[in-house]
Amino acid sequence: MCGITAYIGPRDAYPIVINGLKRLEYRGYDSAGIMLYDGEELQLSKTKGKVADLEKITATARNKRNGKIGIGHTRWATHGVPNDVNSHPHVSNSGDLVMVHNGIIENYDTIKKELTSRGYTFKSDTDTEVLVNLIEEVKLNEGCKLGKAVQLALNSVVGAYAIAVFDRTKPNELVVARLGSPIAIGIGEDFGEFFIASDASPFVEFTKDVVYLEDEELAIIKIGREVRVRKIHDDQLVDAMIQKLQISLEEIEKGGYDHFMLKEIYEQPKAITDTFRGRLMPEDNFIKLLGIDTYGERFLNADRVIIVACGTSWHAGLVGEYLLEDMARIPVEVEYASEFRYRNPVLTKNDVVIAISQSGETADTLAAIKLAKSRGAFVYGICNVVGSSIARETHTGTYTHAGPEIGVASTKAFTTQITVLTLMALKLGREKGSISEEMFGRYLKAMDKIPQQVEKLLEINDHVKSIADVYKNATNCLYLGRGFNFPVALEGALKLKEISYIHAEGYPAAEMKHGPIALIDENMPTFVIATKHGHYEKVVSNIQEIKSRSGKIIAIVTEGDTTVKEIADHTIEIPETEEALTPLLTTIPLQLLSYHIAVMLDKNVDQPRNLAKSVTVE
Ligand code: G6P
Repeated sequence: MCGITAYIGPRDAYPIVINGLKRLEYRGYDSAGIMLYDGEELQLSKTKGKVADLEKITATARNKRNGKIGIGHTRWATHGVPNDVNSHPHVSNSGDLVMVHNGIIENYDTIKKELTSRGYTFKSDTDTEVLVNLIEEVKLNEGCKLGKAVQLALNSVVGAYAIAVFDRTKPNELVVARLGSPIAIGIGEDFGEFFIASDASPFVEFTKDVVYLEDEELAIIKIGREVRVRKIHDDQLVDAMIQKLQISLEEIEKGGYDHFMLKEIYEQPKAITDTFRGRLMPEDNFIKLLGIDTYGERFLNADRVIIVACGTSWHAGLVGEYLLEDMARIPVEVEYASEFRYRNPVLTKNDVVIAISQSGETADTLAAIKLAKSRGAFVYGICNVVGSSIARETHTGTYTHAGPEIGVASTKAFTTQITVLTLMALKLGREKGSISEEMFGRYLKAMDKIPQQVEKLLEINDHVKSIADVYKNATNCLYLGRGFNFPVALEGALKLKEISYIHAEGYPAAEMKHGPIALIDENMPTFVIATKHGHYEKVVSNIQEIKSRSGKIIAIVTEGDTTVKEIADHTIEIPETEEALTPLLTTIPLQLLSYHIAVMLDKNVDQPRNLAKSVTVE
């Protein structure tokens, strides 16, 4: 994780780097730091805390803000507690080299011992300080330039990294490299300036031209010269492809909302519509999905589909399991990428793996994809970030087109991932003949209505807020759902945990009797998804069981429901739709509920403690 950003060019680097860091804070916010070079002195400022804390310490010292070259970092701590000393950038023993790093150097301890025996000293507990000194040692020993020294040093480390390195003795260049963690290079007009960052958001207002480094690549960035990219292991020159950025400044700002999370919850009608665009054609009774159009046979002939993902994306994968099995009759397994990659799974070339990831950078998911490919499986990606590592690593796939998601707690990514999975299941079901023409048509019409229904559902915000007020002081909560809505219960519990730090558990409603019921009393609220489908009566019985043990019930029901209304303490209505599509609606009030509880408890909604949005370490 961690966010890195850098600038080299004719402008003042300070505001560019600081604003860039603010946009990258979703990647980690334990500490922040910046180095500026004004042609004479290195100015280093770093602190535990957020970028706003860094601004406070630089605000009073003018000389801490000078320079046309700057590199900055916002940290999610791996090695060493988050304190001022462990904050990046780190400086080499000579004081010449300065580096920021995102990732983990696994063999740092061995290298540190070796460097210590050669007289190097270390101020911090970080692997980064070890790496910058290793680069220095190589540079001095080999008598080479910075780029070569970085390359040689990286060839002797084990781990993952995205780094930006500056050398005071060569102040017109920066060297960046990546393995496992992303690096985007924004290119100013006529190569007159360069912006470097973990993603393109820090420089979206300055340039639309961007080069994304691939794994094992190193770039030497010099003003007035094309970006020169080489392979780290064999020095081979690579053609750096300049791509056009697709995000706008507006998309990454809060747009009048108090928090990104709330903005992103409210963006869902548009995000789902954008996911549909050019794909869902109810008038023509047709779904167009390029990945399936081209590779549908792989799915139809597959022995099974394995979905790999982490966090909220894993929950979307569970909904995908219900959808694909129900509509397309293909056996599906859903795996945590972190378990799958280390389990020596049985995989064949007849397996199809679907990898789901908002960021497209999650280290475990990426590793799971590589493993599946190495065993001959066909890998389909569902990603939000265009051009991300997972999007590039998969054989084909579908972008969700949800727009940038900045709040650490995922919302619109979840609903748009489910939207893609639904389109896939319907399309495959039709091609396989496992879904009738009539049902297919009904689903398409129902899908088409979802954005409007979400829009309408968002009008219950005040009602949900009043429920949040009643339960904000709970210390434990239970979330129950069945069938398609079991994963929604898991996701509802995760949302509450993530941003309000209240312990919450999601369970399949019927499993409640095998444990969680022991916890029920008047202090533990239970949120139940009890829409009028499938196993409605059984869920109603579960609600009765909780009520008869003095538990409090907040139920999500279908519009017009009267049965649950009579028993539950509170109800939230969702519009009528097909059962398989209900997760797209039932999840909305649960997102709002967690949001309001977190705000009422005065928690940092967009940047919850200890979490990061893009988990690029395992
Ligand atoms: C982190 C984020 C979650 C996200 C998960 C997977 O834990 O905080 O919101 O669901 O990573 O991320 P991905 O980008 O792969 O969907």
